[in-house]
Amino acid sequence: MTAKLSLPLNSAMLTKDFIYGVATASFQIEGGADNRLPCIWDTFCNTPNKVIDGSNGLIACDHFNLWQQDIALIESLGVDAYRLSISWPRVITKSGELNPEGVNYYLTILDALKAKNIKAFVTLYHWDLPQHLEDEGGWLNRETAYKFRDYADLISQAFGDRVYSYATLNEPFCSSFLGYEIGVHAPGKVGKEFGRKAAHHLLLAHGLAMAVLAKNSPRSKNGIVLNFTPCYPESDTEADKKAAEFADDYFNQWYIKPIYDGEYPSILAQLPTEHQPDIKDGDMALISHPTDFLGVNFYTRAIYRTDEKEHFVQIDPPAPRTDIGWEIYPKALSELLVLLNEKYTLPPIYITENGAAIDDKIVEGVIKDTDRIEYYQLHLNAINDAIEHGVDIKGYFAWSLMDNFEWAEGYLKRFGIVYVDYDSQVRTIKNSGLAYKALISNR
Ligand code: FCB
Repeated sequence: MTAKLSLPLNSAMLTKDFIYGVATASFQIEGGADNRLPCIWDTFCNTPNKVIDGSNGLIACDHFNLWQQDIALIESLGVDAYRLSISWPRVITKSGELNPEGVNYYLTILDALKAKNIKAFVTLYHWDLPQHLEDEGGWLNRETAYKFRDYADLISQAFGDRVYSYATLNEPFCSSFLGYEIGVHAPGKVGKEFGRKAAHHLLLAHGLAMAVLAKNSPRSKNGIVLNFTPCYPESDTEADKKAAEFADDYFNQWYIKPIYDGEYPSILAQLPTEHQPDIKDGDMALISHPTDFLGVNFYTRAIYRTDEKEHFVQIDPPAPRTDIGWEIYPKALSELLVLLNEKYTLPPIYITENGAAIDDKIVEGVIKDTDRIEYYQLHLNAINDAIEHGVDIKGYFAWSLMDNFEWAEGYLKRFGIVYVDYDSQVRTIKNSGLAYKALISNR
């Protein structure tokens, strides 16, 4: 029997204007690498020992060729929306013009979605920075923010009214901290003097693009997608609580506070000068451009204790964990949403990513991913709780439509509600996908 997903009968999440969707990202699914410029993830994949299984994104789910069947698949799930990202190196040439072939690729996809009445949630940057821009310094170079604005300008004009919602960036924390501070993501730079600088240029890019989107696409809902890993103290001691608070400011509030309060968390002053971002006059006003929505990505929480040398240390996540080692702790999601809502004056929220890596097995064409269904159920409940506490949440996106290239984990971690056989490129809807479909159609 297929396990079911359900919500209380009076839940706001069962009304038709609550949007359900599935999400993907260009580099993780497309392949089609010959038809675009190289990006930082190509280079990272080609560097030994960076991606666990030594894989790359040259083919991925071959969505570049199989997009029609994938859109039929999305339609068959009955979702209201599809969150996809645009590959910057596919649509913009080295000299900064639109690449008509790349633009057409997305125009046909957006038209197909429109014809099927599926809302397009477009993310402009899900980590695939053109390599030639990295060669000029990437996100450490302030110029990249202006290049991003120009890309946002050209592409939003080309897309016209096909897009329901634009997100400028996906998870600037990952781009800056993982990519430029600890180097586990592309471009693999390591140094505390890099992380905050990259983050500032990413946030500046967001602000500059928001102004452009507001002008070119005033009817779409324009905003940003941030990830949150709520920070909990290991014990009730003041020292552990302080450690967790510092970590929260460093990893979470660092990215949202500039956008909604126009300033960085006060820990900025505690960082050595050489670790601080280069903030120019007027930057914070640009960064805090109003947004129509906030996208929240949530997977797990983290636990911290105090440390003599560092401001905090993270302790190993306790069980239960998903296949990627992330603790399953849905309460952190409702607490997060309520806290954010108290702390900031926020626009409506979409949960733009949530899901679980499970070591799926396909047996006679069936994937019994009961643990994933359970994960979804717990997190849908947590969102429902937050809504009951007054948080304005307008939609939910399962990560991911299908199994795909999970960054430094390669193809070893499966997050899809659809199973992908990478040899045959055959897709099979998992039981979680069937449960999601039933939840949506039973509204
Ligand atoms: C998020 C990313 C997404 C995916 C999930 C598992 O951080 O935005 O691309 O890799 O994690």
